[in-house]
Amino acid sequence: MKRDNFGSSFGVLVAMAGSAVGLGNLWRFPYLVGTNGGAAFIIIYLVIVFLLALPIMYAEFVVGRRSQSNVFGAFKKLAPGSSWGIIGVLAIICCIMVLSFYGVVGGWTIDYMIKAVMFKFTSDTAALDGMFAQTVTSSWQPLLFMLVFVGLSGFILLAGVKDGIEKYSKILMPLLFLTVVIIAVRSVTLPGAGAGIDFLFKPDFSKVTANTFLDALGQAFFSLSVGFGIIFTYASYVKREENVVKMSVQTAMADTLFAIIAGVAIMPAVFAFGISPGQGPGLVFVTLPYVFAQIPLGSILAILFFFVLFVAAITSSISLMEVVVAYIIEEFKIGRKAAVVVTTMIVLVLGVFCSLSQGLLSDVKIFGNNIFDLFDKTTANILMPVGALLIVLFAGWRMKRSDFIDEVTSGGMHKLNPAYMAIMIYSIKYVAPLVIGIIMLRSFI
Ligand code: ALA
Repeated sequence: MKRDNFGSSFGVLVAMAGSAVGLGNLWRFPYLVGTNGGAAFIIIYLVIVFLLALPIMYAEFVVGRRSQSNVFGAFKKLAPGSSWGIIGVLAIICCIMVLSFYGVVGGWTIDYMIKAVMFKFTSDTAALDGMFAQTVTSSWQPLLFMLVFVGLSGFILLAGVKDGIEKYSKILMPLLFLTVVIIAVRSVTLPGAGAGIDFLFKPDFSKVTANTFLDALGQAFFSLSVGFGIIFTYASYVKREENVVKMSVQTAMADTLFAIIAGVAIMPAVFAFGISPGQGPGLVFVTLPYVFAQIPLGSILAILFFFVLFVAAITSSISLMEVVVAYIIEEFKIGRKAAVVVTTMIVLVLGVFCSLSQGLLSDVKIFGNNIFDLFDKTTANILMPVGALLIVLFAGWRMKRSDFIDEVTSGGMHKLNPAYMAIMIYSIKYVAPLVIGIIMLRSFI
């Protein structure tokens, strides 16, 4: 079966960045910055992204592209007769579980986009709290929006890699970038925004605890899409002549830049209106509508913001889905259309439980968590770290050193400084497994 490929370097970059930039950047990152003391967290996060998550991304990229196969089939090619295929099994389960709650939140973003268009936001915080509660706890409405969100993701994937993922990412990503920049500019020019800027850029290391490091580690995995087969699957569509190191560095930089700009778009406005930055999920869905209701041109910014959130979520959701779709197409030898329909159905069925767990099924608790939180925690605390651990072990210890170097340099086409190569290999073999071990211990203790 002939495999689809990305058509251009720019296409690969926007697709990878589209996958990485998602709810993790626009919702989770500002919230974590808010609860972890601001600038100090950002500095720690940056160090972790470039010293740890980036080597993991190289490993995923190298193995994925070498295989030219889906995340499960890859190991039948690269390590026949071995048990390494478990990496693929875990990645597929992880993506399906993430999609199930990602689709629910994606649905909320559509709902809020419509609310913004209908000028539903007021400066009454109790009303906004009530609006969010009503949005997530109702039975039918969130299900309908989830269906639209997951359906749209499936629709984009029907067109395949080049004409679906690449084409839409090329249009949506620059738009996303432009819109976040516009909101950031508006936010920093508000009277009283200075306190928010200080919070973001003047580190106060007295607030740093061991947990700050661990939160930053978890955020790096989630945000860069490493550890659950996404970079792997996208890399399998990347042509041999593309530069692994350049693509990975650019993806990590784009994702990080986005997170910082999202912080700049949100924090100064939050501070300008004297709202506490550590609000959690409400930071985006409750606090920002309040901010938008107060400022000139706020209603337009509100529409733009929720549109951006939706776009960021959908370009990540298609990457999560493609991991499963590629697996079904190649392992069950069926067409893309049928594979997309099957994946969409599975996600929708599980998504119904995640959505209802906010309301009707909120009393159903498994290990003390509702279904939504259970999926969220199981994926972030167990499946992603285990996936990342196994992939670095494969790339560092199972793969032949010469094959690894051949793939990193595209058969000698791209030169790499020998010292950098040595550091990369050392990080993949020793540093990454050790640090991931620490994250996992944290989630179990
Ligand atoms: N990397 C994606 C995000 O940040 C999953 O939302």
